[in-house]
Amino acid sequence: MATITASARDVRGARDAGARCTRRAPRATRRMSFYANLRPQLYRLIESESVDPVRNPYAPGAGQRPPELAGRDRELQQFEVVLERVARGRPERSMIVTGLRGVGKTVLLNAFRSMAIQRLWGTGKIEARPDQSIRRPVASALHRAVRELAPRHRAPDRIEEFLGVLKAFAQAGEEPGGGRGKARAHRWQPGIDVPAARGRADSGDLEIDLTELFVDAASVATDVGAGIALFVDEMQDVPADDVSALCAACHELSQNGGPLIVVGAGLPHLPAVLSASKSYSERLFRYARIDRLDRESADIALLAPAEREDVTFTPEALDALYGAADGYPYFVQAYAKVVWDVAPDSPITADDIKVAAPEAESELAVGFFGSRYERATPAERDYMRAMAMLGDDPVPTAAVADELGRKPSSLSPARDGLIKKGLIYSAERGLVAFTVPHFGKFLRAQPV
Ligand SMILES: Nc1ncnc2c1ncn2[C@@H]1O[C@H](COP(=O)(O)OP(=O)(O)O)[C@@H](O)[C@H]1O
Ligand SMILES: [Mg+2]
Repeated sequence: MATITASARDVRGARDAGARCTRRAPRATRRMSFYANLRPQLYRLIESESVDPVRNPYAPGAGQRPPELAGRDRELQQFEVVLERVARGRPERSMIVTGLRGVGKTVLLNAFRSMAIQRLWGTGKIEARPDQSIRRPVASALHRAVRELAPRHRAPDRIEEFLGVLKAFAQAGEEPGGGRGKARAHRWQPGIDVPAARGRADSGDLEIDLTELFVDAASVATDVGAGIALFVDEMQDVPADDVSALCAACHELSQNGGPLIVVGAGLPHLPAVLSASKSYSERLFRYARIDRLDRESADIALLAPAEREDVTFTPEALDALYGAADGYPYFVQAYAKVVWDVAPDSPITADDIKVAAPEAESELAVGFFGSRYERATPAERDYMRAMAMLGDDPVPTAAVADELGRKPSSLSPARDGLIKKGLIYSAERGLVAFTVPHFGKFLRAQPV
């Protein structure tokens, strides 16, 4: 196979290089230890003829593009319709993708973005952070989107006009004098040569300013017969005032039919966050809740990339993998990645999965669960452990207090802290649940 040959060539190259450098040194010992080190490497390559670690296609990791985007056809089709309707000037609700961590929201948002780019739309993306105003990030994202459209615009002065408004918008959020220390370090450096405009999108009131900025951006897009899509990841972290401004701006835009849409992704309580801020948000956005992959999609996520490398799985292996990963896309990628490296041969068998599972689990324990657990304070950890003891469904906060033998009110700081850190969420009043799938199971397995 091509890659094997290439790998073998690499090894040979390394050997020649090794031979060269032995010339200057005590020869025999150098060379012997060189081959001793090389042998395990060579054996691995020769043994795994068909399951070459170099060609491992799987991609566990936040926002990592999967080798096969499985089970999301419905959402992709819905977004296609959104784009088409906006392009035709039809009133259209925008889309918001919600779901637990690791189900593939970021990946789906990026796929949406590619679809918009294919239609020659201008696009930009922000990742919201708690306590950070969206003014600057939105300015940068729209700057990017308009830069994508600019080369096709016939009137450069219209672009310059917009950039002047954009600059004014960004600077309207700055403290007088440019702030100090850290704030100054974050001063917006957009590289926009034109002077900031006056009297548009610069009032300092984000709702007014965003609305004006969106309207102007949309009209630039109209000029080139395209649209603009602004993607907002981790949307539940947009500060409350900014959420309300963002909804109001989208509302305004949906009424005048401008071709600009805001597409969001966030945790399951995002719809609640939005409707608490503006009651009409339910009519503004189409919510797509994404979840674990069903069995067929999970199999496709595993098989399609493997078969492109002439590797396959036995049916029992697929059963075992579905049992272990439970259809959660992150887990599917994580298990498959390790199994591939462990398997000596194609087809990959249930036994290979048995061998690989402990390593996959310990990688998840560190990278997926542990990294999040470590963000919690000791009080917050107690709170989560109590939640875990109560099972895997959303639990009443009162029951958590009971479990800890504390008054519910005394636990509010821990609960709020965990919500802010995105470790738990509250989709319904009085109930809390983990944002991370299998987190309860992970906690229950930890020594106290
Ligand atoms: N539809 C899918 N099919 C297969 N793997 C996927 C799919 N969606 C996401 N993944 C994988 O799942 C992992 C988590 O995706 P990500 O978009 O970061 O999740 P989220 O943003 O919801 O936390 C990544 O490793 C990605 O490659
Ligand atoms: Mg994400």
